Amino acid sequence: AGRNILYYETTDSTNLRIRQAGDEGAPHGTLAVADRQTAGRGRRGRTWESPAGNSIYMSVLLRPDIAPNKASMLTIVMALSVAEGIGQWIPMIQIKWPNDIIVNGKKLVGILTEMSAQVDYINHVTVGVGINVNMTEFPEEIADTATSLRLECGHTVKRAPLIAAVMERLEENYEIFLKTEDLSGLMDRYSALLVNRDRDVRIIGEKETYQARAVGIDHTGELLVRREDGSMEKIYAGEVSVRGV
Ligand code: BTN
Repeated sequence: AGRNILYYETTDSTNLRIRQAGDEGAPHGTLAVADRQTAGRGRRGRTWESPAGNSIYMSVLLRPDIAPNKASMLTIVMALSVAEGIGQWIPMIQIKWPNDIIVNGKKLVGILTEMSAQVDYINHVTVGVGINVNMTEFPEEIADTATSLRLECGHTVKRAPLIAAVMERLEENYEIFLKTEDLSGLMDRYSALLVNRDRDVRIIGEKETYQARAVGIDHTGELLVRREDGSMEKIYAGEVSVRGV
């Protein structure tokens, strides 16, 4: 679809650019792409190293007409779309709930969703995606846990077709999310890519830490786990951290 694209050689953070564009009335679907970020942001207040040349830094503006408590699904929809888009380059792609994209146990993509909302309505949502494309080296802190498309496919990958593939999957999945009553198809596609599906995970919460079997996600995007006594629990992103065991 013809869309509004903001391209930056260097910017602070494409998430900040999109949030501002959203505040200024930019249309749904506006996309910001940068070659380099000076203040790239990760989840949990971390920074996202954003050197020039080898990465994709992109953010999309969404204006969904849904209740704020349904917004966590937008991250799920984006994670699925990124996984399916990149899946055209490497088939072995997996999702670590809620929104890291993993290949061979290493992180290839991070997603940061930020919402501008009142109690009962969403003003707009910024979904930012950082994809490690052609880098072969990482900062020391993430050297053991990060990977890139180039490292996984063995050759360099062009960025523009990758962005287009992600946007194409996003358009379709977002449409399904908004317009379809039964989201089971979407959920199944997401659950099939879960890295910890049918495996034991350690749930590290504020009150307790326990081991349980990851079984999938429900229609609001929460992780469903089965405890040893057979009872099911919903895990809310942000409340807990989930580790493979
Ligand atoms: C994570 O911590 O895993 C999320 C990382 C998200 C990084 C992307 S890069 C494009 C967009 N702009 C930002 O400042 N962050 C996101």
